Amino acid sequence: MRMVDLIEKKKAGLEHSEKEIHFIINGYVEDKIPDYQMSAWMMAICFQGLTQKETTILTKEMTYSGEILDLSSIQGIKVDKHSTGGVGDKTSLVLGPLVGACGVPVAKMSGRGLGHTGGTLDKLESIPGLKIEIKKEDFIKQVNDCCFSIIGQNKHLVPADKKMYALRDVTGTVACIPLIASSIMSKKIAAGCDALLLDVKYGNGAFMKTKEEAKKLAQMMIQIGKSLGKDTKATLSNMTQPLGYAIGNSLEVKEAIETLLGNGPDDLLQLCLQSGAQMLIQAKKAKSIKEATQMLKNVIDNHKAFDVLCQMVEAQGGNVEYICHPELFKKAKEIIPIHSLEKGYVKDLKAKPLGLVSMKLGGGRASIEDTIDYSVGLVLNKKIGDYVEKDEILLYVHTNNGLSEELRAEILNAYIIQDEYIEKPILIDEVL
Ligand code: URA
Repeated sequence: MRMVDLIEKKKAGLEHSEKEIHFIINGYVEDKIPDYQMSAWMMAICFQGLTQKETTILTKEMTYSGEILDLSSIQGIKVDKHSTGGVGDKTSLVLGPLVGACGVPVAKMSGRGLGHTGGTLDKLESIPGLKIEIKKEDFIKQVNDCCFSIIGQNKHLVPADKKMYALRDVTGTVACIPLIASSIMSKKIAAGCDALLLDVKYGNGAFMKTKEEAKKLAQMMIQIGKSLGKDTKATLSNMTQPLGYAIGNSLEVKEAIETLLGNGPDDLLQLCLQSGAQMLIQAKKAKSIKEATQMLKNVIDNHKAFDVLCQMVEAQGGNVEYICHPELFKKAKEIIPIHSLEKGYVKDLKAKPLGLVSMKLGGGRASIEDTIDYSVGLVLNKKIGDYVEKDEILLYVHTNNGLSEELRAEILNAYIIQDEYIEKPILIDEVL
């Protein structure tokens, strides 16, 4: 077999066999196929696509390019959740304790933030002392003890995705549904869960700009999961505006704590209850959404979910005082209010520019080597559907370096205000 013939084949829109995909992935991981040929092949996929069968085979080949985590010594059905990322998305910090408190083991690997989206690991590391690299035996013991742990990606999982993703990043081949589906699913399957809930987001703050694209991606991933023996479900959720009110690492941890104590923003709580209920059903802890939702509300009311977060933080070396007394988190030097220039209803609140402002304040990374300032970010005061008077506060900027006119303009441009009344958007509008 020659790689050049396989590139030509995909360029012509023909379907690859299992042997051919094995040859490509194996050859690439073993450095027998060079980056330039791999990029040409992935670019051909961007234009010609892959069939469902090809995508499933590609996912399987990528999954088995490295180690597969064996979580069989964790008791119970392990349900993992994956969000395709967004702005202000702190759901893992709420959902993990919620579901864990209902007796479902959550053994999760998460990533870091890049660009306008935040990463769960960075948020967790804003808790002083908390370690995200722990030994596999300790990880398993912790999940058996308190039903919840989040750690960093194991370096030995899915080496094919590491190489391919780095190449896609610099060759304009990231935004391609079969490549995204195989990249996400290979990592999730290698991470050893029994069942998987995907939260596929759409809107200007997400990878998928439209609901139709998000649905296509979700359906493709569900089929891959089913073909590879994992019970897989997906929700489609709206990411036109940030989730909750806080954007930025420690600000988001504080909001997650508030939510676990029953005082969080309604959109975040609803998303966590709906996703959590799906997970409890997948883990066979509840038979209906109604029953599952009640279980989740109970563990908020009796503080069991909050206790699970405290146990997890303590087990991973974090200072649990910060969870019990969030006012201990280091504050930014200045909190600058941004006032509205006009009155009316907030029609649009663009998540992506706000995510980028938080990154530029130091709360995120423009490149993977950048360090993070955990205390900075934004706290929204007005969201879509809210009425705002002229000069009323739209949001607060938490900063250690003042606020440039450029960033102030970016914030004001993210808010679109109109005279006519507008309903608040629906968050989850479909479960697949
Ligand atoms: N997240 C991933 O893990 N892979 C992609 O290709 C896109 C988003």
